[in-house]
Amino acid sequence: MNPGSLDYLLWGALPYVVIAVLVGGTVWRYRYDRFGWTTRSSQLYESRLLRIASPMFHFGILVVIVGHVVGLLIPEPWTSAVGVTGGAYHATALSLGLLAGVTTLGGIALLIWRRRTTGPVFSATTVNDKTMYLVLASAIVSGVAVTMLSAYTGLTGGHENDYRETVSVWFRSVWVLRPDVAAMSAAGTGFKVHALIGLALFALFPFSRLVHAFSAPVGYLFRPYVVYRSRGREAAGATRPARRGWS
Ligand code: HEM
Repeated sequence: MNPGSLDYLLWGALPYVVIAVLVGGTVWRYRYDRFGWTTRSSQLYESRLLRIASPMFHFGILVVIVGHVVGLLIPEPWTSAVGVTGGAYHATALSLGLLAGVTTLGGIALLIWRRRTTGPVFSATTVNDKTMYLVLASAIVSGVAVTMLSAYTGLTGGHENDYRETVSVWFRSVWVLRPDVAAMSAAGTGFKVHALIGLALFALFPFSRLVHAFSAPVGYLFRPYVVYRSRGREAAGATRPARRGWS
């Protein structure tokens, strides 16, 4: 089926509008709201649930991101050329992808539940946060749903929902400025809905607390150790007498 004008709008023009908003919005936010560039952490209000939910969500989403990079950027003929059969690829992608997706989903569900039920955390939640959580949770739910759907069609011998021949071809074409609208318009509806929600999240990104992802404290891993020394008399090699401290 030939793509219609809506297809050209959604898969030919929209991705570039979103990229412009993401890049322009991030530069704008950095220039005009550098002090608001924060996670707006709520750890002070509640930390017991956060200790479980936050790593669950963050480790899950990291694996989901790696999965998207592999699934969307590596062309199918390349993996076949190195001997990975379609069946083996999908079995690995599905098991790892679903594990990561379900972990991320569990993490975000716990985070939202905590935010709603812990009074001070809920009071510190803005309309901006609620919108972001809604779009983020929808992206994750729709992602897990299309993965399960493609597992089901794969198991029942179906082929039409193979995203590596539709979504991935379109995704790569966007980056070389020749959007393959026909490839994406041939994808299943579930994939289209999921990609649109993903694009909405990218457009919201610079205006939400998600910007903290751009300033992950990577330098922390490479900075020198902070050296702690005891000032007590008992400290080995102490040369000065201990001073009177707070009692
Ligand atoms: C334009 C952007 C995006 C595209 C084209 C895209 C495409 C896909 C595709 C094709 C799958 C199915 C994988 C399979 O069947 O094995 C998938 C799964 C998934 N997506 Fe996306 N996605 C996008 C953005 C996002 C975003 C922003 C999120 C969340 C923040 C997200 C979360 C997920 C999750 C949780 C899964 C299921 C688990 C997994 O495969 O890792 N996606 N996505």
